[in-house]
Amino acid sequence: MNKYSLVSIADLNKDELLALLERARYFEEHPNQKILDGKVVATLFFEPSTRTRLSFETAVNRLGGRVIGFYDASTTSSSKGETLHDTIKMVSNYVDLIVMRHYLEGAARWASEVTDIPVVNAGDGANQHPSQTMLDLYSIYKTQGRLNDLTITMVGDLKYGRTVHSLLMAMSYFNPTFNFVACKELQMPEEYLKFCDEHGIKYTITTDFSPEIINASDIIYMTRVQRERFTDIMEYERVKNLYTLRNDMLANSRDNLRILHPLPRVNEIAYDVDDNPKAYYFDQARNGLYARQAIICRALGIDPLNNKPSNAQ
Ligand code: CP
Repeated sequence: MNKYSLVSIADLNKDELLALLERARYFEEHPNQKILDGKVVATLFFEPSTRTRLSFETAVNRLGGRVIGFYDASTTSSSKGETLHDTIKMVSNYVDLIVMRHYLEGAARWASEVTDIPVVNAGDGANQHPSQTMLDLYSIYKTQGRLNDLTITMVGDLKYGRTVHSLLMAMSYFNPTFNFVACKELQMPEEYLKFCDEHGIKYTITTDFSPEIINASDIIYMTRVQRERFTDIMEYERVKNLYTLRNDMLANSRDNLRILHPLPRVNEIAYDVDDNPKAYYFDQARNGLYARQAIICRALGIDPLNNKPSNAQ
């Protein structure tokens, strides 16, 4: 496995997270430059995406690199039975970095182990979404002015939502307090509760998205119920609309509260929230460009602050 691969947010220690945030801020100020001249990046999307793929591709383009790839695996030789192993081996012949989204948990780890070039996980099933976490951390830092000692309320599909799994782990360095708000079918999985226990992270578990919880939050992180992960569609129909944030629910919330959502939203946030200054989800998605520019540079061993190959991270 290439040492610059980013498969799980756990691949990064605290210093590496902070270094990426510093570089994301640098790219927000300097988004257009030619530091990837001569580099080719593959974006292999076996699952649908709007933000992740387009922001990764924009990140490469704005830094002067080139992109190849696919977003419809049915047009590739995987539809003829080619294995993921062989696909990764082949693409590795052509590019300097692979960015991959796959519907199977563990697929990104597997891909990273069959190639010498770096692999960045753009989401693997219900498991991890580390680049989303970097833009989430950047968004939290920008809006709160700090990462330490925040109360973060995660709402919706905490079982299948890979973004909340990655974010929970990353926040372990920063003494968070979590409120996990979900119906009993979509609660935070036991392994992540165990992670909290092992890292001394405070949390509550509730099915009630109450005014008390909203008014005590610095961040409310809404999530979509992930229809594509359900084997029982009737269960999806039963739970899909249980939690919707409306503007009137924010009347007594903290001044510093910001509403995040990895997007796409379906019914989790009413449109009347969009005009509230506490709504931050579209800005959050824009931050993805800068965070992914930082991730790409790290994966290619380039430090934008020195503009030369670096082992510093
Ligand atoms: N947040 C996120 O992963 O969005 P996409 O599925 O559109 O990439």
